[in-house]
Amino acid sequence: MDRIRLQGGRRLDGRIAIGGAKNAALPLMATSLLTEQAVILTNAPALADVATMANLLAQHGLRVEHDTTSRQILLDGPATQFEAPYDLVRKMRASILVLGPLLARFGQARVSLPGGCAIGTRPVDLHLKGLEQMGAVIDLEAGYINAHVEGRLKGARIIFPQVSVGATENLLMAATLAEGTTQLVNAAREPEITDLVKCLVSMGAKIEGEGTDRLTVQGVDSLHGTTHAILPDRIEAGTFACAGAITGGELLLEGMTLELFGACTRSLREAGVEMLQEEDGVRCRRLNGLHGVDVMTEPFPGFATDMQAQFMALMAVADGASMITETIFENRFMHVPELTRMGARINAHGSSAIVRGVAKLSGAPVMATDLRASVSLIIAALAAEGETIVNRVYHLDRGYERIEQKLAAVGADIERMPG
Ligand code: EPZ
Repeated sequence: MDRIRLQGGRRLDGRIAIGGAKNAALPLMATSLLTEQAVILTNAPALADVATMANLLAQHGLRVEHDTTSRQILLDGPATQFEAPYDLVRKMRASILVLGPLLARFGQARVSLPGGCAIGTRPVDLHLKGLEQMGAVIDLEAGYINAHVEGRLKGARIIFPQVSVGATENLLMAATLAEGTTQLVNAAREPEITDLVKCLVSMGAKIEGEGTDRLTVQGVDSLHGTTHAILPDRIEAGTFACAGAITGGELLLEGMTLELFGACTRSLREAGVEMLQEEDGVRCRRLNGLHGVDVMTEPFPGFATDMQAQFMALMAVADGASMITETIFENRFMHVPELTRMGARINAHGSSAIVRGVAKLSGAPVMATDLRASVSLIIAALAAEGETIVNRVYHLDRGYERIEQKLAAVGADIERMPG
């Protein structure tokens, strides 16, 4: 297994090209199940999760070509088989996003239950209840979701008891081909959802309420192909903003906009990081010292849960204390024991963690446990005294493209050690 070796203490300075958003690419790829024509996605990131989704769609019978040079993915239907097997779904929970499109287009689907993951149990009950409201008959057998519908799905008014990005995406895609009108109330408002709405509309879907928590979909008989540019990855960008800030450096995050950062902009500014919108991206620069800032993760436009671990690494060396509260997932503090091994002073209790800033972290061998926890260790190591070895970096590769090359290009002393 590959490892990453890092020597801390170097300022990061320069420009980083921000790639297409992983959490937009995955649902956008699933839209190809809704049409027999070609869907072309540009600005596509070369990530392990994108490759997993490509494999899943290929085994559904689609022609999938991912050109990592031109950063383009071509997906050409129609699907010919409707089962998403356990060995693929267990690798990536977002595989559940084929369920809505398969049901909407073919009236049947057999998708493995994703199971839990490192950050929580992550059920899919909201996906299933919404599809049942649209007329799907769903039963669970031997770890699989068996779903079918007589004729077409029917439009329904679906009120989410809690905000769910994936359930919003699954039901939005299903609704585009349903008979009649669907209302999604208390829908997620992440930029990745807005990007999905834009793509579906470009395929001929009739959707109103883009960017709001209430989406209204008028079902149509069929969707045509499209070419769609994937929006920049706000979490990759926020990760680099924290990396630059912890080293006292200055980075221009190419292609980014401040509004994509949501509440993270305010928290970073309060921490002492200047965030400026420029023509070709967002410039992040640490002004003086870093200050402890309290954050609570919330659905967009609140502070992103996917930024929590990275921000905690930054707070580990801030002046003063910060209270970090995770409200989205029940076990998203796996980075705490590893940061503690590097000298951080963090006391996690339930869904909150108190971080007391220290003057210096020290390098150590650490273990990656999940995607965002892994990158928080990289951020801490950039400012730590001495050498850090991060093990199990396959977690990183799920959501960060060539991170060691991007960081080395702006001054980090970092290399990948093939394992
Ligand atoms: C998406 O996961 C993202 N993944 C996650 O990013 C992100 O952390 C999460 O949204 C929240 O923003 C992708 O987009 C591929 P949810 P998703 O449904 O859709 C509970 C990363 O690091 N819930 O919004 O699975 C759930 O357990 C990943 O890139 C139910 O109870 O998240 C969680 O507590 C990690 N029942 C909360 O809702 C359901 O049916 C939010 O989950 C669905 C969700």
